[in-house]
Amino acid sequence: MCGIFCALSLSPARCVWSKAVREHLKRRGPDLSREVTVEGANSCYRCLFSAHVLHMRGLLTPQPVQDDAGNVLLWNGEIFGGLPVTPEENDTAVVSRRLSSCVGPSEILAVLSALRGPWGFVYYQKAGDYLWFGRDFLGRRSLLWAFDAEVGALTLTSVAACESGPAASFWQEVPAVGVYRIDLKAVAEAGRVTFEVYPWARGGRDLVSGYGPAALESTPGGCTAAMNRSGLVLASPVRPLNTSIPKLSDEEEIHPNSHPRVTDLEQLLASKENDAEVSRLTDVLSEAVRRRVQSLPFKARDDSPPSNEGAAVALLFSGGLDSMVLAALADRHIPAHQPIDLLNVAFELQVPKKPIESARKPGKHKNKPADCKSDGADPQTSGAFDVPDRITGKAGLGELRDLNPERRWNFVEINVTKEELQEMRRERVCHLVHPLDTVLDDSIGCAVWFAARGTGFAAAEDGGQRPFTSSAKVVLTGIGADEQLAGYSRHRVRFTASGHEGLIQELQMELGRIPSRNLGRDDRVIGDHGKEARFPYLDEDVVSHLNALPVWEKADLSLPRGVGEKLLLRLTARRLGLGQSAVLPKRAMQFGSRIAKMEARREKASDKCTRLLTE
Ligand SMILES: *[C@@H]1O[C@H](CO)[C@@H](O)[C@H](O)[C@H]1NC(C)=O
Ligand SMILES: *[C@@H]1O[C@H](CO)[C@@H](O)[C@H](O)[C@H]1NC(C)=O
Ligand SMILES: *[C@@H]1O[C@H](CO)[C@@H](O)[C@H](O)[C@H]1NC(C)=O
Ligand SMILES: *[C@@H]1O[C@H](CO)[C@@H](O)[C@H](O)[C@H]1NC(C)=O
Repeated sequence: MCGIFCALSLSPARCVWSKAVREHLKRRGPDLSREVTVEGANSCYRCLFSAHVLHMRGLLTPQPVQDDAGNVLLWNGEIFGGLPVTPEENDTAVVSRRLSSCVGPSEILAVLSALRGPWGFVYYQKAGDYLWFGRDFLGRRSLLWAFDAEVGALTLTSVAACESGPAASFWQEVPAVGVYRIDLKAVAEAGRVTFEVYPWARGGRDLVSGYGPAALESTPGGCTAAMNRSGLVLASPVRPLNTSIPKLSDEEEIHPNSHPRVTDLEQLLASKENDAEVSRLTDVLSEAVRRRVQSLPFKARDDSPPSNEGAAVALLFSGGLDSMVLAALADRHIPAHQPIDLLNVAFELQVPKKPIESARKPGKHKNKPADCKSDGADPQTSGAFDVPDRITGKAGLGELRDLNPERRWNFVEINVTKEELQEMRRERVCHLVHPLDTVLDDSIGCAVWFAARGTGFAAAEDGGQRPFTSSAKVVLTGIGADEQLAGYSRHRVRFTASGHEGLIQELQMELGRIPSRNLGRDDRVIGDHGKEARFPYLDEDVVSHLNALPVWEKADLSLPRGVGEKLLLRLTARRLGLGQSAVLPKRAMQFGSRIAKMEARREKASDKCTRLLTE
């Protein structure tokens, strides 16, 4: 993980860049910072490249990488396949070497199409004066852009700053629709910036109807984009979504005893456990996790306290299905003597102003404060941090201990008070979430930031609690499971209203928008701690595998909540030896951690969040 930055200016004026942005980049890449500037003939353009490196594996490769020919690479990515990288090598050097040998655009596109893993990059191709940049197919790494028409400067950066005032830049996320190329000489001559777009081929029809025009529309003000007429595209790293719907005659076979009674669910799970599909998903997910937890630096960062017992891998951990499956798989691939950190975040429950008794008339449950609803998290009788995710987290910890009693599972209780939330949102999170700006971005951004920081309390030898900070540089998150396996309640709504067809449309739309909705933001938020977010459910092989399956293999929404959604993943959890966590219904992080309750305002998740604005 790195912080990368590039400023292209069409005037000889020195590029001045925000000190805040530089500081945010440095937090992403604390191990080494460096700058390189290149100029076109007669100084017709100037590019400043700035890189801040977090060292993950191999030898530390300083960035920007400049090869003998004068090409410059900024690489914020991780190669998990596609190009051979041995454990001793650094992938930045491998990518640089491959790109150096490319001549035409089709060769560059071939290298980028072959990569498996998350990436955002900027590449200066000296021969021909081209600037290339973009994000991977799923947008798992952040890249933002802004154009300042007054001075004729285009800026690309992993993370920006939420600034106000006349000098503030207007940042947008670079859409993960393809890679972009700027013909620097032509642009300098014309005095205006034009991009050429090489889109990801997402399957014939999509390309024409959806993603192509989107790529051309969402460019920074003052710039224009043109689709490359040569028809060159990046090959999609994943198979298209299987859109078949069950034939009526299949329906019987698929749901032999439709709508079993709730008591039969355990039986249903048990009977399906040996399904071949369960084995296949277990294998492909297991491999995705293996790639993300192995070949890590063993030593924790130099500035952390000397310890040979720090974990290398942590998980954002709610104890729910998605995180439990990842934990069980990580357990397979991490030697048993190494600990694994389970990061569990809770926001202080706000005690209702009026005592509960006086607010509730006997028998009238509609006046019951929402905080006491069904999950047993009554702040009057239990700890202020015993939020739903803490309770399921502790239960999940128990299951993992049963699964592997040898391992030290560090369950990190991260308790956040309202004051601390407000302070850190103002200082850090508002800049990281930017340019996203909704109430939901605020809630998730803050919850993920505190969780990924990994500072809280863990169990001490004497049974009490001790202050604890996770040393892991790799943070696994369960994002992508709900979007692919129909885990959200809106999937059920859609299925009820318009059947399998509606459900498939919903899933297709959600996977398409996950880069702009979630991934850039989560990468910026987690990267702020000098840690790297890794998303096993969004491994190309996992996505391909799930996309190829017909929807009824993944979910059966005729079954009750807690079973029907993500059915295939629940079966996988059972196969892995997990118990109660396999049948927990979905609970979104903003509710499970209770951050959404903390503000207690009447607002919708999609409203613009005023708390994110800086003065
Ligand atoms: C990065 O890896 C390459 C091999 O891929 C190696 O030649 C190079 O020395 C490494 N960089 C540094 C700074 O060690
Ligand atoms: C498309 O790419 C080809 C090959 O690099 C190039 O010659 C052509 O000018 C490009 N078209 C546009 C519209 O930029
Ligand atoms: C954090 O919250 C838990 C409740 O889940 C509580 O048991 C624990 O004592 C709290 N730790 C601190 C240091 O406040
Ligand atoms: C979609 O699933 C059906 C049913 O399993 C299968 O017959 C078909 O080949 C699949 N289609 C694709 C494109 O994978």
